[in-house]
Amino acid sequence: MTTKANSLRPTNKDAALVDRANDVIANGMYGHQSVAGLPDGFPQFFARGEGSHLWDVDGNEFIDFMCSYGPIVLGHRHPSVDRAAAEQQALGDCFNGPTEKMVELAELLVGITPFADWAWFAKNGTDATVYALSLARAQTGKRHVLRASGAYHGAAPVWMKGAPGTLPEDSAYQLLYTYNDLVSVNDAVDKAGDDLAAIIVSAFRHDVFHDQELPTREFAQGLRDICDATGAVLILDDVRGGFRLDLGGSWERVGVKPDLSAYCKAIGNGYPISAVLGAEKLQEATGKVFDTGSYWYQAAPMAAAIATITQLQETGGIGTMERVGNRLRKGLAAQAESHGLEITLSGPVQLPFMTFAGDDGSARAIPRAALFCNEAVKRGVYILPHHNGFLSAAHTDEDIAKALEVTDVAFEAVKNEFGRA
Ligand SMILES: Cc1ncc(COP(=O)(O)O)c(C=O)c1O
Repeated sequence: MTTKANSLRPTNKDAALVDRANDVIANGMYGHQSVAGLPDGFPQFFARGEGSHLWDVDGNEFIDFMCSYGPIVLGHRHPSVDRAAAEQQALGDCFNGPTEKMVELAELLVGITPFADWAWFAKNGTDATVYALSLARAQTGKRHVLRASGAYHGAAPVWMKGAPGTLPEDSAYQLLYTYNDLVSVNDAVDKAGDDLAAIIVSAFRHDVFHDQELPTREFAQGLRDICDATGAVLILDDVRGGFRLDLGGSWERVGVKPDLSAYCKAIGNGYPISAVLGAEKLQEATGKVFDTGSYWYQAAPMAAAIATITQLQETGGIGTMERVGNRLRKGLAAQAESHGLEITLSGPVQLPFMTFAGDDGSARAIPRAALFCNEAVKRGVYILPHHNGFLSAAHTDEDIAKALEVTDVAFEAVKNEFGRA
């Protein structure tokens, strides 16, 4: 049986489940939720969540700073969201056609999103980014898409250049640029010639292992200008940032409007739904591209999404995340300084990420961050060393104060192991 050497808390049930999973689950576990690449203290299996806290199968409690990798924006088991989904489920969820909830949700999203005139729904963020690219190609009749190197837009073959199981043809007609670097964008535009269908861009730079970067206004406007000049479609991938930075879309903050935006994660507080929102000029293409799925029209996740967005609107949820996020960031910065450790805290405070001087994210060699997060998770603070975290509107000042007690110990461990930066 696997043992978790470093653990301060029970891990027996988790270890037993990992053993059973190794017999019957693909690769034992797969995808972004596999803990195989994480330090020892990370449990693989969870039992329940409530607000900003979650419990693993051994009953260990965590303050949850990953929020299920983003979906949980109001906290686990949010009553108004769960009630809305349950009320719909009591009527039925999956029919021969959609329910009124679909139109209601589209009206809500189009109403709060300044550039958008229509909505399309599916299940995963990948569905949304792939559909957006198809629409752009159908609209323009052109082939090339520009994307930032290192950016993640989903696990479909089209976005997984060079990955085992994909063909070079799957990701053909793609050109890379560097986030926030218009010179590199213009180079790629020149290479595409008169065959540019789209530019896809993340709401902010959030590549794993890399300090996050907010888009400069110049960069965002530059992409808009190129698309206006060439007829290419500007696709904002707001899957990760959506509904945590601005309810009208994350680029409302920089004042630049995309033609299409892809959402998933936070839209339904954990219920499975994603969306593409689009400008009027892309309506025609929506009539040309056929894309669909068995569960894409489920009504309960749509009811959950309406409740989630309404709740965020009515309670100022984004402001709450920003306030507690600032508290967390200030606390971490002060602690690192008091331990004589050099760190970088980057990106929006609602999606916190921290790197240590001396670690090398570009080589994926981050022993300080790994030790820090392992010490934190063993003491009940769930954060990852290589991937940004997520706050929810359920996080409280008390959560932050408790988390900071733990991170102080984790910083001390890094200092003891590696010395001051
Ligand atoms: C920016 C971004 N785009 C697309 C995706 C893909 O979303 P999904 O995993 O729901 O398919 C993700 C997932 O993490 C993401 O962060």
